[in-house]
Amino acid sequence: MHLIVLPAEAAGSPAGTPPGKMASTLLPTLLPPVSRAAAFLLRTPPKPFRYHHSLFRSLLASASSPSTSPTPRALVTMACAAIPTRRDLLMLGIETSCDDTAAAVVRGDGEILSQAIASQSDLLVKWGGVAPKMAEEAHALAIDQVVQKALDDANVSESDLSAVAVTIGPGLSLCLRVGVHKARKIAKVFGLPIVGVHHMEAHALVSRLVNKDLDYPFLALLISGGHNLLVLAQNLGEYVQLGTTIDDAIGEAYDKSARWLGLDIQKGGGPALEELALEGDPNSINFTVPMRQHKDCNFSYAGLKTPVRLAIESRNLCTDDIPISSATEEDRQLRANIAASFQRIAVLHLEDRCQRAVEWALKMRPSIKNFVVSGGVASNQYVRTRLNHIAEKNGLQLVSPPPSLCTDNGVMIAWTGIEHFVPGRFEDPPPADEPDDMQYDLRPRWPLGEEYSEGRSVSRSLKTARIHPSLTSMTQSSLHN
Ligand code: KG4
Ligand code: ZN
Repeated sequence: MHLIVLPAEAAGSPAGTPPGKMASTLLPTLLPPVSRAAAFLLRTPPKPFRYHHSLFRSLLASASSPSTSPTPRALVTMACAAIPTRRDLLMLGIETSCDDTAAAVVRGDGEILSQAIASQSDLLVKWGGVAPKMAEEAHALAIDQVVQKALDDANVSESDLSAVAVTIGPGLSLCLRVGVHKARKIAKVFGLPIVGVHHMEAHALVSRLVNKDLDYPFLALLISGGHNLLVLAQNLGEYVQLGTTIDDAIGEAYDKSARWLGLDIQKGGGPALEELALEGDPNSINFTVPMRQHKDCNFSYAGLKTPVRLAIESRNLCTDDIPISSATEEDRQLRANIAASFQRIAVLHLEDRCQRAVEWALKMRPSIKNFVVSGGVASNQYVRTRLNHIAEKNGLQLVSPPPSLCTDNGVMIAWTGIEHFVPGRFEDPPPADEPDDMQYDLRPRWPLGEEYSEGRSVSRSLKTARIHPSLTSMTQSSLHN
């Protein structure tokens, strides 16, 4: 029997579970995975755990000695006194899946100690998108500084950490590799466990950091530059995919439209378009809402691009040569009208699909209370307002992280690392002789979950080559082994 335990809250119950509640739930939670996390916290213990280390040892010793075998109640009392609290967990999170090099240090109870980020916006402006080789180089140049800044700002050193979390997919292999290399180097030197994080799960789960009452199951819309996902989150690591994009993601459509409209995209195409749209008439151009004839939850944004391009050309706007800052008032107004009309239709498409997804999700899990909206595009105020209507109309609570936690960041990776670390889902520290040119387990194409069977659509033309088994199938097979 495993007698190393974490408090009930650490074993998956919401934070703040009172000790009385813990006593009744403690014994059934003596699972090997939990013991694994506790055991790691107790190995050459980082500073915060030194005190607990000896208490744990005596707890173990007394429990294994038949003559002094304590009663279950006594064990629980001892455990309450001895166990490092979830707050003592210290996770470094590293994110390099796309164009931002980010790191953060987060405590087990969700307190954000630091976050650092180096964005590649100048490269985006120069190349018009993410060029993998350039992005890799930029990550490689920034990673050491970004991680050091996160540690310094948190006032901790590597030896204080409990573990390191790092994005292993989906994303660009070349970029993922930089983060994973750094994470493994730290983990190797300091003997730290590693948690490999799914980038899109991290977008979803950071909502549980900002809203501690957010429990499974919940519905999530994850909207970013590379992904459009509607998922039913059943549990940690377990998702049903209700819809995804059959071509471009909404963030890409924002970015392209912003570029075509001649906007200053230094701070990102999405934010620039959102700002200009405020000056425009959203009903001035009737773009067609995509996929209305498909009664599913999938998305398509590629079809919106041509009409936007045509709208610009037919109004003789020389957006390629004249940036918005030099445009006449009349020209600016026309561009704003296109931006606002694009945004209205792009978001109407989200609304259509979300309404159907809510219906599907409630049919599967009537207890759903929350609708999570996250990912870079969720920092858009218009998007949040419109989706809040969908939530309210269906009696759900909209949960959307603050904008700084919607766009790519290290906090979401650290937090998702904590979520997985606590129930023991992590890798042991790399061996001391792990070579620097090791082939890492990177998952550039890695679905969150399997498709909802009723949601399969003839319009889906997913290229299935080199797709990694979904996070959900991996979670389920590890739970059954
Ligand atoms: O999640 P994220 O930071 O990175 C990816 O995982 O892709 O999302 C980036 C995307 C970009 O396309 C960016 O233009 C978009 O999110 N975005 C926005 C806004 N802020 C960021 N789109 C619309 N409105 C915004 N305010
Ligand atoms: Zn992202």
